[in-house]
Amino acid sequence: MKTGLITIAYIAASALFILSLGGLSKQETARRGNWYGIIGMLIALGATAAAMDPSGWPILGGVLIVGALIGATVASRVQMTSMPELVAILHSFVGLAAVLVGFGTYLDKFAAGNVVEDPGILLVEIFIGVCIGSITFTGSVIAFLKLRGSIGGKPFMLPGRHFINLAMLIGTIVLGVMFATAAGVSGNPYLIGAAVLTGILGVHFIMAIGGADMPVVVSMLNSYSGWAASAAGFMLSNDLLIITGALVGSSGAILSYIMCRGMNRSFISVMLGGFGTEGGTVASTASGEPAGEVRSVDAETAAEMLRQSKKVIIVPGYGLAVAQAQHSLAEVVKILKEGGTEVKFAIHPVAGRLPGHMNVLLAEANIPYDIVFEMEEVNDEFPGTDVSWVIGANDIVNPSALDDPGSPIAGMPVLHVWEARDTIVMKRGMASGYAGVDNPLFYKDNTQMLFGDAKKVVDEILTAMRG
Ligand code: TAP
Repeated sequence: MKTGLITIAYIAASALFILSLGGLSKQETARRGNWYGIIGMLIALGATAAAMDPSGWPILGGVLIVGALIGATVASRVQMTSMPELVAILHSFVGLAAVLVGFGTYLDKFAAGNVVEDPGILLVEIFIGVCIGSITFTGSVIAFLKLRGSIGGKPFMLPGRHFINLAMLIGTIVLGVMFATAAGVSGNPYLIGAAVLTGILGVHFIMAIGGADMPVVVSMLNSYSGWAASAAGFMLSNDLLIITGALVGSSGAILSYIMCRGMNRSFISVMLGGFGTEGGTVASTASGEPAGEVRSVDAETAAEMLRQSKKVIIVPGYGLAVAQAQHSLAEVVKILKEGGTEVKFAIHPVAGRLPGHMNVLLAEANIPYDIVFEMEEVNDEFPGTDVSWVIGANDIVNPSALDDPGSPIAGMPVLHVWEARDTIVMKRGMASGYAGVDNPLFYKDNTQMLFGDAKKVVDEILTAMRG
């Protein structure tokens, strides 16, 4: 009876997790999706507590309270721009948990005198779980440190690094064979060796990947952490953990694919590493000369240009998020709409530093969903637009992605802002974006640069419009 009820609870929780993922894929249903996830998790926790021996409840209650307090504090403090690093460090915990579950299960189940059914399958599950967990743990810690800026974002590449990775992989497989054929718990040294080796592999693998590719790496590690959880689910014979892990694993993989497509990079090329610079450098041509002449306007002139426009398309980017200019921007949009201007937002799939970054930012400022469009929906509309207004974006509006086959971002789909009658580009100076490349948009005849911090300048535009 009790087992049946727990199974039903696990199925209900799994269904709620699937509904949650479905809900989170659209802004209109995101809140509901979040609630499905919360309720699913509460059911899962309740069922897990009911399934265990009541003597373990005090420990479970203790760790739940401490975990919930830490989680709530960290989540309420984190800035949206720091979200990838928070996600990275959380993945490292999942990886570490899978390693510990692996060792715990091995030492417990294979202790002297125990009879294990299907020992071969369990040993493979333990070994895979520990290896994926270890690579996820160390890789996520490195991704966290890179995103935080504690270690440089530049790719760190040892000579023959692919060979080193391959050698470590082969070494791990050899240790796996020795572990699987060892009697009792005598395979423990091999398991420790494999955990250390895959841990080093995780460090080496992620160190070679540049800062610009880190969000893809975080999502890939998200996927790994899901598979690590799934492996832990097999070890613990917990169906819910297997299903949830598989959901996280596959959604992370899909997200990595979407990001790679948004940057026109193959997943393999991202994983092979070596792309990207520290970011934020002042780009120039090969000769070191400025790449062209730049025209600039002040906030009053920009406000007038916007007010006189029948149609404006706003392209938000990372700089808008850093400056937290979304609330002032919402006010400007309101004034423009009241004055009869048609306003649309154009969202590039990799604008900002994490998927959906801009959508969350605009939703925070209560900008209506029906004026926010994905790149494919709105990219053809620039020719009929009076002003395209780029706020703190750079790479995603770089025409060299289309015109210059030698550019590091060649082939990346970009927003064709330069096809509008006028373009206003708002940023603090001439620094490059994350990809570290110069942007010919800034030197086009119909581009006006509006220099300054996005929040400060949007506030000035707001004041000019109100005046
Ligand atoms: P970026 O190309 O990084 O450009 C942002 C620009 O904002 C910078 O050039 C910077 O110029 C400006 N800026 C910074 N702080 C500012 C402030 N306070 N006020 C005004 N401007 C400010 O950003 P993007 O156009 O959003 O493109 C995203 C980049 O991240 C792409 O290269 C993309 O491939 C990469 N990426 C994104 C993702 C996801 S999922 N979103 C994943 C992987 C990689 P100044 O310093 O001159 O102000």
